Amino acid sequence: MKALVLAGGTGTRLRPFSYSMPKQLMPIANRPVLEYVLANIRALGIEEAAVVVGNRGSEIIAALGDGSRLGMRLTYICQLHPQGLAHAVRLAREYLGEDDFVMHLGDTMLPQGFAEAAEEFAARRPDALVVVRKVADPRAFGVAEVTADGTVTGLVEKPEQPRSDLAMTGVYFFTPAIHQAVERIEPSARGELEITDAIQWLVSRGSAVVAQEYRGYWKDTGRVEDVLDCNRELLGRLDPAPQAAAGQVDEESLLIGTVLLEPGARVVRSRIQGPVVVGAGSLVQDSRVGPYTSVGRDCSLIGTHVDDSIVLDGASVSGVPRLRGSLIGRSAAVTSADRGNDHHRLVVGDHTQVEVAA
Ligand code: TTP
Repeated sequence: MKALVLAGGTGTRLRPFSYSMPKQLMPIANRPVLEYVLANIRALGIEEAAVVVGNRGSEIIAALGDGSRLGMRLTYICQLHPQGLAHAVRLAREYLGEDDFVMHLGDTMLPQGFAEAAEEFAARRPDALVVVRKVADPRAFGVAEVTADGTVTGLVEKPEQPRSDLAMTGVYFFTPAIHQAVERIEPSARGELEITDAIQWLVSRGSAVVAQEYRGYWKDTGRVEDVLDCNRELLGRLDPAPQAAAGQVDEESLLIGTVLLEPGARVVRSRIQGPVVVGAGSLVQDSRVGPYTSVGRDCSLIGTHVDDSIVLDGASVSGVPRLRGSLIGRSAAVTSADRGNDHHRLVVGDHTQVEVAA
């Protein structure tokens, strides 16, 4: 059994971050999304995976390397133009050979894993198994119509009138039967080769396609709101046991709840309300941080109050009294204006969103 992880795409919804980084490397609780994805795969006992990357592939390769750090052997497949999930499967044909494989979208988080689905696939060995999740409003998702015994009878992409509340999560188990299907389909109205169409092709030909329900936390980290939601969820799951061990905290600071300080992180005259992680080499001084905040490496937070936020590596925030629900990019600087200034001054990149307290 192999794995195929899809980490190409354009990431339009995560601009401006996706202008300068692959969205699959967005850190959640200071770990890139792709590492969680690969951990899910490794937890099934799978060691061999191919990662499909796009024009920002070199950053992904630099971050994950040959995979040995994660106990895996990684191969990279280049998809310069994102032409759909089924197109990515086409590109992986040679790598996958005649093996069964699990396919996992590289921006999708299922922190509880999907061991049950893997067991079901191994036991029944249908041509395809889709991992689905019940959702309140299925209209924004690919939706599976499923009988009581788990057989998929139809798949519809973003239906206006959904006939089921089971959304496809972005995790699929396939036998080599999928290769014929991805070759047979045509591009959809949005010009992509859709995996939904390929699986529907199998269903229409009477192949065995089943669904397995996942009941845990599930998030496509395609938008800023989703990244922050996921950050809250994963920080909330941090092991509360050993905290602050690797960092330095002065006597005037107070750490409450689960606070993880990476090596060389320093806390001076500050109050940190967990769950919070502070990355290696970062400084928190005269500030209040948390709850639900991840601070990356080599950041500085000075005279600032920040909660429910992610601050990426090398960023600095100083003299800002109240930041909430914010995502601050790498090496970005957020400062207060000089004393006496009565206006805001913004140097803001393309497609950036700024909300200023009135
Ligand atoms: P999406 O999030 O559906 O697509 P996208 O990355 O283009 O994002 P946006 O809608 O914001 O423009 O893709 C899901 C995952 O699959 C994501 O990790 C990117 C990856 N992907 C590929 O590897 N190749 C592709 O051709 C496409 C469409 C997506």
